[in-house]
Amino acid sequence: KSIAIFASGSGSNAEAIVRHFQARTDVQISLILTNNPEAGVIKRARRLHIPAVVFDRHAFYETDRVLELLVNQKIDLVVLAGFMMLIPEKLIHAFPEKMVNIHPALLPRYGGKGMYGHFVHEAVVAAGEPQSGITIHFVNEVYDDGEVIFQATCDLEAKDSPEDVARKVQALEHEHYPVVIDRLISNFTE
Ligand code: GRF
Repeated sequence: KSIAIFASGSGSNAEAIVRHFQARTDVQISLILTNNPEAGVIKRARRLHIPAVVFDRHAFYETDRVLELLVNQKIDLVVLAGFMMLIPEKLIHAFPEKMVNIHPALLPRYGGKGMYGHFVHEAVVAAGEPQSGITIHFVNEVYDDGEVIFQATCDLEAKDSPEDVARKVQALEHEHYPVVIDRLISNFTE
């Protein structure tokens, strides 16, 4: 089985996923794709010996180049890990129940356009939430709205800053995302 990971930023989740499957022969991370030529994930991919593809908005929205690449590589599961672009419907429809995303909060709250990265943790702290966490969900046409696959929570303290929350949430991401992906793809029959 083959996985493609989309990331726009540092790629710490991508790295955690690659490392989780490193010794496996039944599942491989075939490709890491990014829209950001400066993304830290490119360096991580190089160090982890995973092919990295950089594409631009035009290639993503106006052509089928990315879709064709995923099909040619026989990708079974598309994993979004800190990917900052809305996925074109054609791509979503090509991977029904085979495209997942991770959101650094407990959806349905603190989700939707604009609620990503640091903004999420600032909003959680501003609201004085006792907990935050992660949501892993299937991707559909509506941002942060697909069927929830898994959630995990972390307790917050009044003194926690958004950075503290980010650290606690990222620890949950790195711990759980690879395992949830493994369970999903191991259940793929064909
Ligand atoms: C993670 O917090 C993820 O939940 C969010 O973007 C961040 C990506 O971090 N979607 P990284 O690039 O995997 O380090």
